[in-house]
Amino acid sequence: MGITVNVAIFASIALLVAIYFIYSRVRHVERSYGTVVITGASSGLGHSFALQYARRAQYLVLIARSRQRLADVATECRALSPSLTVDIISADLSSIPSDTAGDVDHQGAEATANAIKALGISSIDCLVLNAGISSHCPAAVTPLSHLERVMDVNFTASVVLTQRLMPLLSTATRPRIAVVSSIQGFAPTPTRAVYSASKHALHGFFGALATENAWLNVTVVCPGWLDTNLRASSLSRPGAKVSANSKHALSPDVAAAVAVQAIADGKRMIIIPRRFWLVYWAQVLVPGLLARIMRRSYCKKP
Ligand SMILES: NC(=O)c1ccc[n+]([C@@H]2O[C@H](COP(=O)([O-])OP(=O)(O)OC[C@H]3O[C@@H](n4cnc5c(N)ncnc54)[C@H](OP(=O)(O)O)[C@@H]3O)[C@@H](O)[C@H]2O)c1
Repeated sequence: MGITVNVAIFASIALLVAIYFIYSRVRHVERSYGTVVITGASSGLGHSFALQYARRAQYLVLIARSRQRLADVATECRALSPSLTVDIISADLSSIPSDTAGDVDHQGAEATANAIKALGISSIDCLVLNAGISSHCPAAVTPLSHLERVMDVNFTASVVLTQRLMPLLSTATRPRIAVVSSIQGFAPTPTRAVYSASKHALHGFFGALATENAWLNVTVVCPGWLDTNLRASSLSRPGAKVSANSKHALSPDVAAAVAVQAIADGKRMIIIPRRFWLVYWAQVLVPGLLARIMRRSYCKKP
């Protein structure tokens, strides 16, 4: 009798493990999308996202200011997947026109959302909110102009696009939003106050959005250092030297591949590479210690 019960328990556990394994494999291979919209697709991580989704989607909409670089990315995507349709939208997501990016066809997130709708799309399966800029400056002296621009591009534009595109997301079968934050989105970082604040804001807004809408999968993507142009193009005080990319910087192609899988799996947050979960837990459990370590690494004594 006892042996029969043990065998039954063992068989039940084995069955549950098998069901879980099959379920996780089914989720793992889910990879076909209709329409994917990507902001900041002209370089770095956004370019890598575009190449990843070129293999998985039927229709890509790529957005950034630089028309030429977007056209080059679109050509690469079509080469990867000849049946793919790609449209590009040259737009400055900020409502404050920039003097560095040349002419754009659309100014501001509202106008960009209208340009997306004008393409005649009936639904959006995945909206990748990746466009971003950085700022290097001590918190106490960061100019208001940097604060306004960084918040506008990194936070407000993502909110406005999402709100305007919700009707198109709601008609997709399994709609997803991927919003690109950073390690600095949960660990306040010296000399990156405004950038860090803009990324923290994304966690607050998109966390609430996900909680309100069970039908919508929202993944917050938090990369560490990436080997991209972000640092070189960051806003900084005149004369301030922004250090070069760290030698530990990760390839954006690797980060995008990991992120795309996490988005397909419906994860709420992904930290890339995984070792930076240590920073997350340090911020939750021992924030004072983390602040001391950060101060030593980022703040030089005068
Ligand atoms: N690099 C890192 O170490 C790192 C780490 C964590 C998170 N991230 C995040 O990753 C995302 C992508 O950055 P990246 O590292 O790939 O840097 P990147 O190569 O400089 O890419 C930034 C992208 O955003 C676009 N963009 C910037 N301002 C814009 C505006 N006003 N309107 C429309 N598009 C705009 C840029 O295109 P145009 O210039 O053509 O407009 C470009 O396509 C950002 O959200 C960034 O915060 C980066």
